[in-house]
Amino acid sequence: MQDTGKLRLGVNIDHVATVRNARGSAYPDPLRAALLAEAAGADGITAHLREDRRHIGDVDIEALMDGLTTPLNFEMAATDEMQAIALRHKPHAVCIVPEKREERTTEGGLDVAGDDNRLAGFIAPLRDAGCRVSLFIGHEEAQIRASARIGAAVVELHTGAYCDYHYAGEFDKRDTELEALREGAALAHSLGLEVHAGHGLTYETVKPIAAFPEVMELNIGHFLIAEAIFLGLEPAIAEMRRLMDGARPD
Ligand code: PXP
Repeated sequence: MQDTGKLRLGVNIDHVATVRNARGSAYPDPLRAALLAEAAGADGITAHLREDRRHIGDVDIEALMDGLTTPLNFEMAATDEMQAIALRHKPHAVCIVPEKREERTTEGGLDVAGDDNRLAGFIAPLRDAGCRVSLFIGHEEAQIRASARIGAAVVELHTGAYCDYHYAGEFDKRDTELEALREGAALAHSLGLEVHAGHGLTYETVKPIAAFPEVMELNIGHFLIAEAIFLGLEPAIAEMRRLMDGARPD
């Protein structure tokens, strides 16, 4: 996504495809949702092509590559199949995520520190193809340092646990997690990494994360698609944009 100086919002449209696939119908169309998201203030669109194609499919990626006016952030597991697809499309950004078949959503961050040699080799061709490579990780120091060492441009910090603690009413744990994310963002920035964050963010949880000065981009999906049932997609996104902007001093 272009560096506009303000906090960028990437809207993840995976769950538009989830609804479509629940009935095996042609609608709702993820590209139509993506174009509405752009009109409502999204700075980019995120889509995760999972190995099992449970939501976004290969034709959706083609349609998004052809139809978007903002950059596509292509989320994928570190597999040979996904690398070949990314190298064919050359999206603006590639975000590498861990993926397990049995999970409902991306549960933890990548173990970059424990798999650094393989991941270094995996991301090199993507970087050479001009894709901005992002690694989806937890806030642990070892993961952040390993991400910088292997040459990632970006780390996306996993905010899922912070959000889960908030909704469980475990506010001490939430605040500890928030503090760890704050330190992680500062460390990553000091190592020259661009810092993004995402997973589980909602109107209630977005502001403290948006207030981190090092964070350049938030990627938000499930809550926005859920809220769109009540408000419509454009107002749901516009409200998130307003809360994000309000959390920043500029
Ligand atoms: N960032 C990454 C790397 C993700 O895998 C996801 C979920 O697909 C998100 C952000 C968005 O999470 P949510 O849908 O909970 O907002």
